[in-house]
Amino acid sequence: MCGIFGLITNQDIEIGKIILEGIKRLEYRGYDSCGIVAQHNSKLYVKKDAGKINEIHKRLKLDEFPFGTKLGLAHTRWATHGPPTKINSHPHLDCNEKIAVLHNGILENFFELKEELERKGHIFRSETDTEIFPHLIEEYMKTGIDFKFAVSEAMKRCKGAYGLAICHAEYPDQIIVVRKESPLVIGLEEGKTTYCASDIPAFLPYTRECYILDDNEMAVLAAGYVDFYDIDNLTNPKEKEKQIIQWSIDAAEKGGYKHFMLKEIYEEPSAMRRTLKISKETLQIFARILWGAKNIYITAAGTSYYACLAGKFIITKFLHKYIEAIECSEFQTQLGDALQEDSVIIAVSQSGETVDTIEAIRWAKEKLKNNVKILCITNVVGSSLTRYSDYVIVTQAGPEIGVAATKTYCTQVLTLALIGLEIAKFRKILTKEEIDNYYHALNSTPDIIETFLQENIDLIKDIVKNLDKSHNFFYLARGISIATAREGGLKLKEVACRFIEGYSAAHAKHGPISLVREGFPIIFIAPPDETYERLLGNVMEFKARGGMIISVVVEDDRLITGFSHRTIRIPQPSDKYFSLFSPITFIPALQLLSYYAALKNGLDPDQPLNLAKTVTVH
Ligand code: G6P
Repeated sequence: MCGIFGLITNQDIEIGKIILEGIKRLEYRGYDSCGIVAQHNSKLYVKKDAGKINEIHKRLKLDEFPFGTKLGLAHTRWATHGPPTKINSHPHLDCNEKIAVLHNGILENFFELKEELERKGHIFRSETDTEIFPHLIEEYMKTGIDFKFAVSEAMKRCKGAYGLAICHAEYPDQIIVVRKESPLVIGLEEGKTTYCASDIPAFLPYTRECYILDDNEMAVLAAGYVDFYDIDNLTNPKEKEKQIIQWSIDAAEKGGYKHFMLKEIYEEPSAMRRTLKISKETLQIFARILWGAKNIYITAAGTSYYACLAGKFIITKFLHKYIEAIECSEFQTQLGDALQEDSVIIAVSQSGETVDTIEAIRWAKEKLKNNVKILCITNVVGSSLTRYSDYVIVTQAGPEIGVAATKTYCTQVLTLALIGLEIAKFRKILTKEEIDNYYHALNSTPDIIETFLQENIDLIKDIVKNLDKSHNFFYLARGISIATAREGGLKLKEVACRFIEGYSAAHAKHGPISLVREGFPIIFIAPPDETYERLLGNVMEFKARGGMIISVVVEDDRLITGFSHRTIRIPQPSDKYFSLFSPITFIPALQLLSYYAALKNGLDPDQPLNLAKTVTVH
């Protein structure tokens, strides 16, 4: 996935500075190369190179645009076709250097189109699929048709996923953007400036008025004005609903924190307080649909998948029906013809743009001729996933920029827990007192995290200092906490580049225990739930083999603490109501551990190697 940002204006603004700041806000989408194009006096001015934006900016002064420029576009890349080199960086130009294209996605039939264009005399400079677009548009413009019609004709030939921003040296009044499966949003400062971007935070400091482009739509941007079209009908502009974005501007900035990851961990309490206010009616709809379902599946990728594991545990407790969790990339292969009518699928995705999650849902809908209900939990209003879903809950985490998901995980588990409690209420399987106790525990989760974050930073830093030489770890747990162990393990792999296995403590005896030697670090996730006593047994087994035991426990824990070398205490009562929601309250400890381990290893936790925040390619 890549990031695109651009604007067209009639104002005397510092366009170079705005474009540089905007593309930096999208750097989480890819950071192996970057480029900009300015349109001025019938010429295109391009600067691009491989590397991170700040490094390239130092060399090329990315914010210095020709005086009087009113149109500019920028791109940050996560390489798919061709390694991250200067020549493969975007923008890509046609033969005459009149058309510039910036692309997020993958053009699937690029070999065939490249051969055809080469036969017609086009010279390609890069190894990218993207370079097809400017040459193809150029080819159509040779027939005498206008810029936007040429873009439309070119798109009819293209298979795959693309969000494109295109400008032309001789069209100073237009940026054309088109979308198929890769996100694109338009921001509008009426009468003044129009922005396009892969994600809203890029233009949030300038406007909250936003339009979300749908698949197979084109937007033609002019200064302070925008027209929308279906890509195959450019005669009549279409109406589109304007969205007013409620996120605060601060949410898209680091606001004094060294990294977005740390800032977003500290935002967990407020993100959760907002999510606790999700409409009761929507939660009830989700609860009733799940109660009426014959088969229930829950699917997602990465951190969202681990949120599903925790959430399905909580929902099952009250629903008394089996929920099968399937990684979205395996959804179709695992289910195949076993997917039956009247199934319900819960799809969870922070971005709502993960291609494998969307594909799982599309496949299920197509196979069952829509005789399946899709319930979606996402953090992004209007994202692609919402369009394929019957009912949507938007978590209220606000924009998450750090590549490693943190606050959105807490809000996803919280949302699934709220659905679980709605089910418990209408099924009347608990006494009023029990229901109240669960709500009290769930409503207390933001305060517990807040207190934990205030009191434990030095302890976590100290633990990390002593773990410094360890390359292998285990996070072990039982029951619901296996989800916590796996998500904690994912965080450490992602940002600290350490190999860690998040595993069932019971199952670890069937193989992984053979790795344990004197001083091998094993972190036990140990809330006082029904698995606690057996987990204590596992702690002893691993300690007896020389393991260095670090435990994550509640405030007044005694037993496991007594067998641990180090202990991280989560400030929550020792009862079953609070323990059920421990995937939410215990995870910040593991997120912080990963964050400080990354710093200790000299790594940038916001931009882990080889990763991108949203994976929009298969
Ligand atoms: C990528 C990110 C992960 C994220 C996963 C799913 O792999 O690096 O942090 O959890 O995608 O993303 P989604 O937006 O669908 O939750």
